[in-house]
Amino acid sequence: MSNADEMKKAAAEAALEYVEDGMIVGVGTGSTANHFIDLLAGMKNRIEGAVASSEASAQRLRGHGIQVMDLNSTGTLPLYVDGADEATEHLHLTKGGGGALTREKIVAAASETFVCIADESKRVDVLGAFPLPVEVIPMARSYVAREILKLGGQPELRQGFTTDNGNIILDVHNLRISNPVEMETTLNQIAGMVTVGIFARRPADVLLLAGPDGVRTLR
Ligand code: A5P
Repeated sequence: MSNADEMKKAAAEAALEYVEDGMIVGVGTGSTANHFIDLLAGMKNRIEGAVASSEASAQRLRGHGIQVMDLNSTGTLPLYVDGADEATEHLHLTKGGGGALTREKIVAAASETFVCIADESKRVDVLGAFPLPVEVIPMARSYVAREILKLGGQPELRQGFTTDNGNIILDVHNLRISNPVEMETTLNQIAGMVTVGIFARRPADVLLLAGPDGVRTLR
């Protein structure tokens, strides 16, 4: 395996082992999750359906003839499979590069097992080099930005982007997230903050990390 896309596909393929007959599968967003969706299509007659973390993923699932279900009607999901922007060996993640972090966090929270799929370029020792996405209520944009500045981050509005929930994204630069649980908790307290792209209070349960020599499983 050489290029990143092949590695993303290899990680997605490894996640198929976690899919069992009759499951309703939680499905994430992004290029790695897209590989998973395309591969899941080969098993579509064995699963009951999927819950999508974005309109884009729902559309892709439907395009393959996979039934997209409402999380309110499914109860707890057995499995959620999604990519990440950064991942540590502690299975703490940053997510939201595609702007779907809120629904991703909801589906992750509502799932028994969260399998994160990524190529090895996503592995970091400390989160924060990738600008941290946070979803914010539009009227709180300036206030939240000022609070983030106090914490040492440099918020930048993602121009021309509206989330599936009608909100804005701030990408926060220069945050060295040495204590992800604490930073997630602190940022969550800011009024007008909808979702912080740190997934540490509910980390992944399994990280499938694809490199040139194959896929490593971290738990
Ligand atoms: C989507 O909002 C993100 O959380 C994605 O999971 C993340 O950006 C990874 O995307 P890729 O798989 O495209 O790298």
